[in-house]
Amino acid sequence: MQVVLLGPPGSGKGTQAVELSSRLGLFHLATGDILRQEVKNQTALGQEAKAFMEKGELVPDKLILAMVSSRLESGRDYLWDGFPRTEEQAVGLDALLAVRSSVVDIAVLLEVPDEVIVERISGRMFCPGCGANYHRQSKPPKKAGICDQCAKGLQVRPDDRAEVVENRLRVYRERTEPLVLFYEKKGILARVDGNRALQAVTADLATLLEKVRRGQKVLNG
Ligand code: AP5
Repeated sequence: MQVVLLGPPGSGKGTQAVELSSRLGLFHLATGDILRQEVKNQTALGQEAKAFMEKGELVPDKLILAMVSSRLESGRDYLWDGFPRTEEQAVGLDALLAVRSSVVDIAVLLEVPDEVIVERISGRMFCPGCGANYHRQSKPPKKAGICDQCAKGLQVRPDDRAEVVENRLRVYRERTEPLVLFYEKKGILARVDGNRALQAVTADLATLLEKVRRGQKVLNG
């Protein structure tokens, strides 16, 4: 099963993907996480990607497709998080899957209003050690500023500054939102209200994906 998670920055894609991949046995592939690791390791890709990420711009499609292609393994069920983000990437993903006799089964759009997104991103913290994600109000660590899992000090992502968030939202509207229509035309787009408690969103997503896995009809039309 191939699942694409779509949604604006801060809509909860990463948080939900971690939970769903462990519940459903899917392989979580988040291009943002891979890029942050490349930046941290100062690889050639990381050095090239850094400037785009700091400004909230998209890393060029060619680099992203090469990065995904080199990690893609046949026969794996993927939960794609933050990829594809442009029509070129979506077409590229279809081509990469086609040679492995696979297709995108469903694209799920997490719908969250802009004002909630700004609130979520401004409260977000992450662990530089294990990558765990937290939120000051909705998912606080047990001890303020310290990771529950590896006890490292939590940090704020450099692209979570207000002016960069504004640009990320603009880029999402211009470059990524058209994918909603792309998947709608294929008849595989599902919308989920992401503006609810974390567990309620997870429960709906898990039910939806279980149905897709069983081959049940989940979409109208
Ligand atoms: P990426 O890391 O993919 O960032 P993003 O898409 O902007 O998404 P975020 O990670 O900001 O948010 P999310 O939806 O995962 O929300 P989260 O679960 O953290 O990309 C970063 C950059 O890398 C891009 O700007 C670009 O430069 C580059 N890049 C990456 N992929 C690329 C690609 N394919 N092509 C080109 N460039 C690419 O949740 C946010 C916060 O809210 C958390 O604190 C969480 O705890 C909290 N929260 C989540 N759900 C809820 C809830 N239901 N209620 C309350 N709080 C909640």
